[in-house]
Amino acid sequence: MKALVLSGGSGTRLRPITHTSAKQLVPVANKPVLFYGLESLAAAGVTDVGIVVGHTAPEIEEAVGDGSAFGLNVSYIAQEEPLGLAHAVLISRDFLGDDDFVMYLGDNFIVGGITGLVEDFRRDRPDATILLTRVSDPRQFGVAVLGDDGTVAALEEKPEHPKSDLALVGVYLFSSAVHEAVRAVKPSWRGELEITDAIQYLIDDDARVHSEIIDGYWKDTGNVDDMLEVNRTILEGVEPRIDGEVDDASRIIGRVVVEPGAKVTGSRIVGPALIGAGTEVTDSYIGPYTAVAENCRILDSELEFSIMLRDSSLTGVRRIEASLIGRHVHGASRPRVPNAHRLVLGDHSTFEISS
Ligand code: TTP
Repeated sequence: MKALVLSGGSGTRLRPITHTSAKQLVPVANKPVLFYGLESLAAAGVTDVGIVVGHTAPEIEEAVGDGSAFGLNVSYIAQEEPLGLAHAVLISRDFLGDDDFVMYLGDNFIVGGITGLVEDFRRDRPDATILLTRVSDPRQFGVAVLGDDGTVAALEEKPEHPKSDLALVGVYLFSSAVHEAVRAVKPSWRGELEITDAIQYLIDDDARVHSEIIDGYWKDTGNVDDMLEVNRTILEGVEPRIDGEVDDASRIIGRVVVEPGAKVTGSRIVGPALIGAGTEVTDSYIGPYTAVAENCRILDSELEFSIMLRDSSLTGVRRIEASLIGRHVHGASRPRVPNAHRLVLGDHSTFEISS
């Protein structure tokens, strides 16, 4: 069995972060989301991995290398345009050959791994297995309708009137039967070759399409709210550890990790929270569910339920909440009149201010 990990795409929902970096490398709990997926493939014993990359290829290749750090053997497959998940399969034919494979969306996060799923597929050898989870609003997902015997009867992509609450999770298992299907499907209204259409083709062709409903936690980290949510979930499980310096005037409460070389001075940190290596937190408050990456400076500021990427700073800013702060971002207060906000924001940035 091989794996195809999709790490291209356009990432429009995570702009402006994705203007300059790959969304799969945005860290949750200070580790790129893609790494969690690669680790679960290695844990399932799937070591031959093809990573589909788009315009952020150099960055992904630099982060993952030949995969040996994960116990994997990684090759890269260039996708010139993000023309859909089925298109990614289409261009990976040479790598995949006639082997069974797991397709894993590089920005998806699944608690509990995929080992059981891979074992079931190896044993039963269906043509495809899709992973499903119950969601409260199925209209924004691919949705599956199951027959009485639990096999997949039909799929609908983002239906206006969903026939079930079972949404497709970003992990799929395929036999080589999928190759005919991805060759047969036509671009959808959004101009992409949809994997749901390819699976529907298999169903119409009387292929055996199984489904498994996961009860564990799954999230697509394609937008900021979901990314913060995954960050929160992972932080809840961190083992507290103080490897950096914390002075006597500071208070550390709950599950907090202070990485080596980090310095906490005159501050209050309420976990779960992570303070990355080389980061300095001075006269500040860091609240629950916050991950601050490496080499940041936080001075006289308050930050809670947020992700701050490396080499950024906050000076005299309070309070920042539910935010994703990119790399090399600098925020400061400007105490004097006029009482106005001054912003330098990249294309597609969003901001909310209290008025
Ligand atoms: P999506 O999040 O569905 O698509 P996207 O990355 O274009 O994002 P947005 O909707 O915000 O514009 O993609 C799921 C995963 O698959 C993600 O890791 C990117 C990857 N992908 C590819 O590698 N090639 C593709 O052609 C597409 C559409 C996605």
